[in-house]
Amino acid sequence: MVDKTINKCLFPVAGYGTRFLPATKAMPKEMLPIVNKPLVQYGVEEAHEAGLHTVGFVTGRGKRAIADHFDISYELEHQIDGSGKEHLLESIRTLINENDFAFTRQNHMMGLGHAILSGRNLMGDNPFAVVLADDLCVPEPGDEGVLAQMVKLYKQFRCSIVAIQEVPEDEVHKYGVIAGEPMKDGLYRVTDMVEKPSKEDAPSNLAIIGRYILTPDIFEKIEATEPGKNGEVQITDALLKQANEGCVLAYKFRGKRFDCGSIDGFVEATNYVYEHVFKQD
Ligand code: G1P
Repeated sequence: MVDKTINKCLFPVAGYGTRFLPATKAMPKEMLPIVNKPLVQYGVEEAHEAGLHTVGFVTGRGKRAIADHFDISYELEHQIDGSGKEHLLESIRTLINENDFAFTRQNHMMGLGHAILSGRNLMGDNPFAVVLADDLCVPEPGDEGVLAQMVKLYKQFRCSIVAIQEVPEDEVHKYGVIAGEPMKDGLYRVTDMVEKPSKEDAPSNLAIIGRYILTPDIFEKIEATEPGKNGEVQITDALLKQANEGCVLAYKFRGKRFDCGSIDGFVEATNYVYEHVFKQD
């Protein structure tokens, strides 16, 4: 029987982060800190909160720091043991103790769809979430994170779900964009999806952001997907097949999202987290 429990989350982290050069020359972009925590840790914490404790990374060359971050550093533990700085390690210790981490490599950079397909052995035959760590999502005070919101919806509807956000018309070309029939507050049934359309071709201004829940049949759909926009295998195209044959939902989530793949978004996120998260702890 196919196991429909959702407890896994995949992080495609093989990208180069060229927009942040020279900072990302010898360091993965996912390790850039927002205040005092690397971007990827925010994503793993969001998954953990949503009950997703099996974490898979699709990595590439030069990404070893991510594996080291989610492993125990005995030297450091020894040095910090009993000192006043121990509390600084609390958040990462919790993740290390309560999650399983697994790694695989994407040998060729052939797009997000291909990256997700490379994680097939880690995710197996279960539904799973995908987090693009560049998209930092911060819940409103007291609210739950985006993945926790999406997992609840998955348990109700049992189909793939993408997180969406309204963006200005002149920014649709940066995103996968959906068309959908409204079902209830903030929830749409997807009828069309286009990867990085021009303003003229965009079916709406509802842009996909880096949070997905995917049912495992997505892997066959990706395999059958030809390279699309920019010559890359696009998850958006594979999802459209699922939408046409069954159902894909799009969910306008609660909370803030920062595009930390851009310098402006990164600085905005840093200021916001410093004021509204870091100083409040
Ligand atoms: C990817 C997806 C795109 C999505 C975006 C969200 O694009 O292909 O559909 O809207 O992530 O961040 P990328 O930003 O990797 O080019």
